[in-house]
Formats: sequence, C-alpha cells, structure tokens
Amino acid sequence: MNLLESVDRILSERTRLTDRFYPRFFERVPEARAHFAGIDLQVQSVMLTMALGAIREHPEMKGACSSYLRVLGTRHKRVGVPRELYAGFLETLLECLREFHGADWDESLATQWQSALADAVQLMFDGYEDPYHV
Ligand code: HEM
Repeated sequence: MNLLESVDRILSERTRLTDRFYPRFFERVPEARAHFAGIDLQVQSVMLTMALGAIREHPEMKGACSSYLRVLGTRHKRVGVPRELYAGFLETLLECLREFHGADWDESLATQWQSALADAVQLMFDGYEDPYHV
C-alpha cells in the first residue's frame, strides 16, 4: 500500500482513524489538552481527516494544499500552539495510522507518512514565521 491508497482508505472510513486520535494525544501530551478547552472534538476529528486529505500527494492539488497548510500553521500560531507539541502530535498520529492499517502497514508506508507529515509540518511552520494571508 502507498500513501495515496492509505489516504483513500482513511477518507472512505469517515473519521474512524481520527476519532481515536485526540484521547491518545492527550494521554501522550497532557499539556495539549488545555489548548482544546471549549472545542468540539468531533468537529476537530472531521477537520483533521480533511487535513490528512490535503497531505495526499495529488499533483493537481499540490499548490492549493501547500497554501492550506501554511494558513493552518498561521491559525495554530494565532491560537498559541507551541511548536514543541508537534512531535508528540506526529508520534500519536503515526501510532493511530499503524493501528488503522493493521496488516497493510509496513516500513515503506511508515516512511512515506513520516516524510509527508514532516513536509506538512514544515509548511505549517512557514505559516508560523510568515503569517499567511489569502
Ligand atoms: C501536523 C500537525 C497538525 C495538523 C495537521 C493539525 C490540523 C488541524 C486542523 C485541520 C484544525 C482545524 C482548523 C480550522 O478550524 O480551520 C486544527 C485546529 C486546532 N489544532 Fe491542530 N493540527 C496539528 C497540530 C496541532 C498541535 C501540535 C496542537 C497542539 C495543541 C494542535 C491544536 C489545535 C487546536 C487547539 C485547534 C483549534 C483551533 C481553533 O479552532 O481555535 N494542533 N488543527
């Protein structure tokens, strides 16, 4: 399975992957919980699923997705999310991805996700440095 197929599978199962993400993330990074005070985690789960869709390597979507991820970074900076919390976010996400795919998960897919997520976070951090206005 490659990254594209992985994202297709995730999107085809609505929010099954992301529903289990936030409780895990708060367990791993307890200080992240305070940032989500008053935020509906079910809505958040839908948003995260859409963001994973944006990470998908789709040539026609690449320009638009890069802009989206920069805007997303600027929004995270605005609501005061420190960069230090991203490592725990990514570790939790990779753990959820591995469980979601079960027997289809392998080293190659893990590497593809790690690299795609690293690129995505780099774009988000660009949005921290240079507030993005569309
Ligand atoms: C690759 C990393 C991340 C991705 C892809 C991501 C994705 C998203 C998305 C799609 C939204 C919804 C934005 C919207 O409402 O338009 C969001 C909101 C939010 N994220 Fe993240 N996120 C990431 C990292 C983090 C981290 C590390 C934290 C740490 C606490 C965090 C905290 C939040 C909070 C508090 C909101 C709600 C902001 C608000 O609506 O006021 N995110 N995130």
